[in-house]
Amino acid sequence: MKNTIYKLFTLLTFVVALTSCSEDKTKPTSRYMPDMYTSVAYEPYGENNVLPSGMDSQAPVSGAIARGQVPYDYEDSIDGYEAAKKKLKSPLSVHELSSEKGKSLYGIYCVVCHGKKGDGQGYLVKREKFLGIPNYKDRDITEGSIYHVLMYGKNLMGSHSSQLTREERWQVVNYVQTLRNNLLK
Ligand code: HEC
Repeated sequence: MKNTIYKLFTLLTFVVALTSCSEDKTKPTSRYMPDMYTSVAYEPYGENNVLPSGMDSQAPVSGAIARGQVPYDYEDSIDGYEAAKKKLKSPLSVHELSSEKGKSLYGIYCVVCHGKKGDGQGYLVKREKFLGIPNYKDRDITEGSIYHVLMYGKNLMGSHSSQLTREERWQVVNYVQTLRNNLLK
C-alpha cells in the first residue's frame, strides 16, 4: 500500500512537471491592439505617407508658438523699439516682481558688463574686454524698451530671450529700473 502511494506520488510529480513545461512562455497569447506593443519604427525625417508632405515629421509651421510661450508683437526694428518703449507695460503685478529674483538673474546675466550698480562698470569693462556699455542713468529707457532690448539685443549686446523666460525678463527689467532710479538720485 505504502509503495503504491509512493508510486502514484512520483507519477503525479512527473505529470505536473511535464505539463508545466509544455507551455511556451515566449509566445504571446492573444493581444489587444498589437500595434501598441510592437509599433512601426519610422526613421526621423524619413519618407512616409503619414503627413501630406510625404515625410514622417516636419519642422514647426511658421508662426507656431511653443506651449507656455506668449507671442511678442514688436518687431526687431527702430520702429518696433520706439513702439515698445511707449506702449509695452509689464504684465506682472507688484508681488510677482520680486526684486530678489530680478537681482539674482541680473547677477547671472548682466553684471559682467553692466556692473553691480548698472553704471556700466562691469568686470569685463574694468578688464577692458568689452567697451561701449552705457550707464543706465544716461539712457532714456522705459520698462518697454528694456524688455525689447532683452528680446532682441541692441548693437553689441546680444538677445537674452532664450536664457530668460518671459516672467524672468520682466523681473530683470524691474531690477534694472530700480538700479536706474538709484543712479538718478
Ligand atoms: C556682453 C555684454 C553685455 C551683457 C551681458 C548685457 N549687456 Fe546690456 N548692453 C550692452 C551694450 C554694449 C549696450 C549698448 C548697446 C547700444 O546702445 O549700442 C547695452 C545696452 C543695454 C541697455 C540700454 C538699451 C537702450 O535702449 O539704450 C539696457 C537696458 C541693457 N543693456 C540691459 C541689459 C540687461 C538687463 C542685461 C542682462 C539680462 C544685459 N543688458 C546684458 C552689453 C551687455
